[in-house]
Order: sequence, then structure tokens, then C-alpha cells
Amino acid sequence: MAAAGYRRGLVDLSKGQISREIFVNDEIYAQEQERLFARAWLFVGHESQIPNPGDFFVSCMGEESVILCRDRTGQIHVFLNSCRHRGMKVCRYDEGNTPVFTCPYHGWSYGTDGKLVGVPYFREAYHSKLDRSQWGLVKVAQLTNYKGAIWASWDPAAPSFAEYLGDFAHYLNQTFDGWDGSDGGTEILGGIQKWRVPCNWKFPAENFSGDSYHNISHRSVDIVGVGPSGSGRRDMPELNLAQKLHIAVPDRGHQTTAYLLPQAASLPPAYQHSSVVSDYFRECEAARHRQRGDWGRLITLVGEVFPSMAFLARQPRTIAVWHPRGPHETEIWRWFLVDKAAPQEVKDFLRDYYIRYSGPAGMTEQDDMENWNYAHAASRGVIARRFAYNYEQGKGTEIEHYEHEGLRLPGVVVDLTQAKSSEHNLRNLYRRWAQFMEADSWDDLMAQPHPAGVPQAAE
Ligand code: FES
Ligand SMILES: [Fe+2]
Repeated sequence: MAAAGYRRGLVDLSKGQISREIFVNDEIYAQEQERLFARAWLFVGHESQIPNPGDFFVSCMGEESVILCRDRTGQIHVFLNSCRHRGMKVCRYDEGNTPVFTCPYHGWSYGTDGKLVGVPYFREAYHSKLDRSQWGLVKVAQLTNYKGAIWASWDPAAPSFAEYLGDFAHYLNQTFDGWDGSDGGTEILGGIQKWRVPCNWKFPAENFSGDSYHNISHRSVDIVGVGPSGSGRRDMPELNLAQKLHIAVPDRGHQTTAYLLPQAASLPPAYQHSSVVSDYFRECEAARHRQRGDWGRLITLVGEVFPSMAFLARQPRTIAVWHPRGPHETEIWRWFLVDKAAPQEVKDFLRDYYIRYSGPAGMTEQDDMENWNYAHAASRGVIARRFAYNYEQGKGTEIEHYEHEGLRLPGVVVDLTQAKSSEHNLRNLYRRWAQFMEADSWDDLMAQPHPAGVPQAAE
């Protein structure tokens, strides 16, 4: 596959068409591993999963198993979970606490700082000549702790995570800042849910980028009412006053669906349960407006950080990562977030709600998985893959400099208040995907000309 063919041949955004090959083709999948997952910043885990020295959590970056751990001095590391001697998976647990990682195959052992500290028969078999300082665990090239969330990249040439995020930080922050508007302060609630779905990883990635069109899939859930107050999540009259927006950051590939409330409106009391729960959220909303000012009007619902991390910022508040497992399978991991300082009763209430809503047992996520699973299978055949998917919806309705009652939102916006739905965010995801597949350097990636007909990002 010639690199230059991605944008013109397979991802044709001037027509709004994308070839099914990018979802089902083995060669394209292999190139994605090199060009996306070995270069981009990827979400690895949360610092609250490893609060103490020696704590570790085994995560994934693309197809690679990695160890997120805190060393004896408290520093956080991410290592490739593969022994330097013969490649054995050094740590086969999901999480825990350890002074050293000892390889089960021949017994090399590594400190929590990654250094090779133990080699059986070092004197006898290696004649004390093995240079242990050169054979520590492989470290990621770059690592950052962004408001408690740990991100890493294998590429030393990648820009800083802040540059990689660009203007999208305004929107991602709603997931990692406190519900009351404070800076950071979240923690992971309970364990991580992991499950596999027989579809390409880009099906969930595009869905969480902003597929507002698939509400029909969740109709039964809405009728049953698994929302936070026992009613459907969309059954909140206050939100009828809000502008519903698709917001995409074009030169970064990140996108979100958000509500923007009018200045005069108070935020909906989203969680009505016991008085402890409802009072807590009411106080948080008031505090958030005080701390964030006009930005307190923005309610980020769902979004995607390119390429494979998605978030729901409040209903429920979760993180998902779409780990590719071949072109035809995705392993989904879902983390659940709460404010560390929230009362236990609030955390217990949210745990019940999150499980009811998300994950393999959650009623809403089950609907989505059915769609991705059958869509993928029905797109694989030699005949099916000849026919492109359609991504025309809302083309030409993008607003470059969106402003509402004095608040200017960064990114390119489609106003869904009248339009109801658009595929603006999905096009943004695939525009960035094609750029990554074509560009050989970060200089190219960070200075992308915008294809004809696509408005540039707001400055
Ligand atoms: S593979 Fe790990 S010690 Fe040999
Ligand atoms: Fe959905």
C-alpha cells in the first residue's frame, strides 16, 4: 500500500467516503501498529492504581504488554513487559506490589526502576562479564502524568503530551478535573473491566468520537431508564436549553460531543438519589461555576483522544482504551473514575450506576457491541469490501470560530441543536488517521495542511 494512497484512495473526505479496507485489511493493520501505535501518545493507566512504592499495574500500548509501576523512590515508570533475555512476559499478574519482577523462564530479575538486578549463575555462566547496566527492561521513550492520568509514547521524537493534545485539553480536563472544578483529584474506582469484541478497533473509536446518529440503538435502554436519576440519561429537561455541539480539533485528531448551557441556566441536578448524593452534586455544580466561570457552562459528554482512548466525562465518568488484537478483534478496557474526595455513599452510588450502564454487563454498551460486531463481520467479504462507507453527514456545516454568549470554544464546531447529528467528528478522526499513516515525521504531522473544503482550526 503506497503511503500516499491513504488520503486520496481510502479516506476520501472531499467525497465523504472511506474504504472498508482500512477496517479489514491485514497489511493496513500491520502499518497501523508502526505508524500509529508506535508513535502516538497512549493512555496507560492512572496514578491512583499504583499509590505505593512497588505497586504495579500491567497495561497495554497497542499490542504490547507494558508494566506501569512505582519504584522504591516513588517515581512512576512504564516498561515493556518482555524479558531482555528471551522475551518472556516478565509479569503475568494484572496488578500487585513487588520489590522485584522475576522472569519465570530463567530467573533474570528487574528492580521496580527497571534495572537488571539479578542474573542466575552470573559468575559461573557469564564469568561476571554480562553488562547488567545495558540489559534493564525497555522503557517507553516518553511518559507524562497529566492530572493523574499516565500517558506514554514509544517515540522519542513525539512532541510533548501538551502539544499533542493542543486545544483539546479544555475538553479532556472535564474527565480528569474534580467535579467541583478543582484541578485534578480523581481516582479509579474498583477494578478494570476487560473484554473482547470481534470488530476492528476503529469501530468503537469512531463511535466515541461522536456518533450521535446511533441513538436508535439505545432506545430500549432509554425506555427502561438506566440513567442517573432512574430516568433515561437524555431525559433531562434542562439540557433542552443547551446547545449540543460536535467539537473537533483538526490538527490533532481529538474530538468530543458537548453541551453548552446558556449563561442564565443552572446545571441539571444530574444525580438524584439519597440526599447525600444529590446534595453533593448540587454543591459541586455550584462550586464548578464559581471556579470555572463561563467555562462552567460546558458539559463534555463523550470524546476521543487520538487514536484509541475514549472518555465519558460524567454520565457515567469512565475511560476506555481500544486495544487492537488483529484487524478483526479489539480488547476493550474500561476504567471508572470518581473524585477522590467524594463521600463513600457517592462512590457506592456511582459504582452501581456505572456497572449498570457501561462495560460488558452494562446495558448501554451491550447495544453498541452488537452493532460493531455485526458491522465488521458484514464488511469483511471480498464483495462487501468493494463498497465504501458514507461519511457525508453534515459536510459543509462546520463553524470555524464558534462563540456562544461570549464564550469562544476552540476547535471546529458543528451545532447539533437544529441538525441533530453530524459526522464531523468522525471525519476528523479519519483525517488524522490518514495523516499518521502517510506522514514520515512529526514535522509533517504537526504541520498538516488542511485538505480542501475542510475549515482550519480556530486560532
Ligand atoms: S526469558 Fe527471562 S530469564 Fe530467560
Ligand atoms: Fe452507543
